[in-house]
Amino acid sequence: MANTKGNGNMPNAHLHELLVDEMKDIMGAERQLLKGLKKLANAAKNPTLKKAFEEHYEQTENHIERLKSAFSNLGLNGRGKKCKAMEGLLNEAEEITEEFEDSPEVLDAALIAAAQKVEHYEIASYGCIVTYAKLMGHTEIKELLGQTLSEEKETDELLTQIAMEEANMGETA
Ligand SMILES: [Fe+2]
Ligand SMILES: [Fe+2]
Repeated sequence: MANTKGNGNMPNAHLHELLVDEMKDIMGAERQLLKGLKKLANAAKNPTLKKAFEEHYEQTENHIERLKSAFSNLGLNGRGKKCKAMEGLLNEAEEITEEFEDSPEVLDAALIAAAQKVEHYEIASYGCIVTYAKLMGHTEIKELLGQTLSEEKETDELLTQIAMEEANMGETA
């Protein structure tokens, strides 16, 4: 199934533009998310949730560094482009924060929902990128961004766990 077109012996070379495009999109998304995570951490009431957002901020900085390495692996500069999907997700996160500002018991659940939508977007993007890198034989990129993919999945799971714990606390209160 490996298809060789152009780019010397690189298999599936027809995926090159798509790979680069997806990398630019997620680079923009990660940069936009840094600001978003600051706001989410500020808005969160539950200390565990606040800490999760703060830790994911640090992970996100590292995701940007990994993307820079992936770009240089392809001999490209690491310029991203504005991600309209992330912009929309973060706008919704802000709307929902304002909407539930006065109901602290709902606010954290709303922040978790907004953050999980972001994580799912990232999981979809990195999932595609890792698949393209694998199909093209870009082993380093596959491994590097595969680590990021795992961290996005772990963050999503952690958010689910916090949501379950929070809901339990609400029940016993
Ligand atoms: Fe990320
Ligand atoms: Fe993330």
